[in-house]
Amino acid sequence: MKESLSRRAFIGSAVGASLGLGLKSASADQTPSVSASVPKKKASPLWPIWNSTEENAIVETLNSGHWGRGDGASRKVRSFEEAFSKKMNARYCVATSSGTTALTTALGALNIGPGDEVIISPYTFVATFNSVTSSFALPIFADSDLESFQIDPKRMADAITPATKLLLPVHIGGSPANIDEISALSQSRSVPLIEDACQAPFAEWRGQPVGSFGMGGCFSFQASKNLTSGEGGAILSNNESFANLCYDFHNPGGTKKSLSSGRGGNFRMTEIQGSILLAQMQRLDEQYKHREANALYLRQMMSQIGGITPSLLYPGCTRSAWHLFKFRYNASEFSGLSRTKFVQALVKEKINPSYGYTSLPASTHVMALANNPHYQKIYGRKGMADWVGRIQCPVNDRLVQEAVWLPQYTLLSSRSEMERIASVIAGIKKRSAQLTKA
Ligand SMILES: Cc1ncc(COP(=O)(O)O)c(C=O)c1O
Repeated sequence: MKESLSRRAFIGSAVGASLGLGLKSASADQTPSVSASVPKKKASPLWPIWNSTEENAIVETLNSGHWGRGDGASRKVRSFEEAFSKKMNARYCVATSSGTTALTTALGALNIGPGDEVIISPYTFVATFNSVTSSFALPIFADSDLESFQIDPKRMADAITPATKLLLPVHIGGSPANIDEISALSQSRSVPLIEDACQAPFAEWRGQPVGSFGMGGCFSFQASKNLTSGEGGAILSNNESFANLCYDFHNPGGTKKSLSSGRGGNFRMTEIQGSILLAQMQRLDEQYKHREANALYLRQMMSQIGGITPSLLYPGCTRSAWHLFKFRYNASEFSGLSRTKFVQALVKEKINPSYGYTSLPASTHVMALANNPHYQKIYGRKGMADWVGRIQCPVNDRLVQEAVWLPQYTLLSSRSEMERIASVIAGIKKRSAQLTKA
């Protein structure tokens, strides 16, 4: 398997019987069954999940003749915004065509532009970076916390300059970043906070769903996400004027033109997307309980193996969305077996791991910005050369070498499958000296 930047790089599918780890386990699966939502058609990999609920919703919207969002005609998108904001305990929601356009809209609503700096996580999907550059602002990576995979608030504090106009941390893998420290930083340094919660719908920090701790939060409903309509996104906020600005920015026919900064676009969600999301929301509670029970069980088993370190959940995390099951692999505890060979051994056992992200700050895409003529015009040639030095993230460089993920849909399989996965890893460890030579 090729190492890849993409979160779409999951391979294979989770199947198989339990071998057990010799740990005490419940006599039968205690996790709720997803059989009620077993797909009519099986896609490969085993995601997304749908049945006649989604099919009927799509056909109903098709027959309504209202396919696009427009004031007055919109039914499904508006209903989804109401349902999502209610579920996420936020006052306002603006649905968008994708997570990327949710971020673009949020930055546009704050009128982030040339000359501004935005602090972002290095351990993230490239879209976080792209949302900053599409405003011609300067993305500044603040290094990761190795234990949690999240952005390190201390490094964020170090990265703030008079040009910093936004903190844009990511809740990576669906687990919240350190919201207490980041919110305190936002307040003490008077820099607004937008959460990139694209992977984290329904995650909670101290009992409050993510997305409305600062000015707002952005979500993605892209095909791999726990709540999906193929593509789609949303912005949540408790701030009415920010929500109005977002609405106007995403809708060229917006009704609140007095608020305009002269910028905007068409980033609307379609009624078809809205109807799929409303249908998918009916599955959420059951799927979340299922993922969480399996994730916690798998964490407990994996932590006993030695050399496998599941990513830290901060004490303030009262719920992870479990979009990714992330752990660090320590080859030295596996007789020096390389991460590549470890992952290959998992694949052989029909487990579906990913190496996760490669280094975003060191990527060709990010490095190309230093030579972008528009950026050199705005920030100067020396400014862009200095920028390359400012975005080094040594902890993240180590993290990308050690990380392994399992996707969220693996956590929707059975409890005995979790036991099998832990058992396979324990078996690889036992055979690691031999596998190293192979
Ligand atoms: C952390 C993060 N930010 C932003 C995005 C962009 O979302 P989308 O793919 O819906 O544009 C994603 C989606 O993969 C993401 O994982």
